[in-house]
Amino acid sequence: MNRREVIHKFLLGGTVLVLVPSVLKSCSKGTTNSGTNQGNNPPTGTSIDLDLSLAENTALKTIGNSKIVQNILIINTGTKIVALSAICTHQGCTVGYYSGAGDIECPCHGSVFSTTGSVIKGPAFSPLHSYPVSQTGNILTITL
Ligand code: FES
Repeated sequence: MNRREVIHKFLLGGTVLVLVPSVLKSCSKGTTNSGTNQGNNPPTGTSIDLDLSLAENTALKTIGNSKIVQNILIINTGTKIVALSAICTHQGCTVGYYSGAGDIECPCHGSVFSTTGSVIKGPAFSPLHSYPVSQTGNILTITL
């Protein structure tokens, strides 16, 4: 083996050493795109009370507005206020309400849900959990 062959093999080996960690890292990202909220569903048997007269909640009085509280997506659909899990059932990303389309969309892989929580488009195949909502005066109560 001459000097040129030694240098060539050294450089090739170095390239492999440099590429292996980056390949592993990219595989890791690709296979574990699990969002940030898996396991963050709120505890059951409790409730969330929102005072709609407070500035932080008053937007929910307007049709098409929404808000996420404790991983619960609260939407004023125009016919009623609904509360659904804000955690995508695919891999746990946080979904959002799009009033223009009237649906709930996941930014991670494109799942789309209706305001009842049912799946309109995958890859998610399970619906978003729906929570009962009641209102007394300005107090909105979401039963978990
Ligand atoms: S996490 Fe994959 S579509 Fe929502």
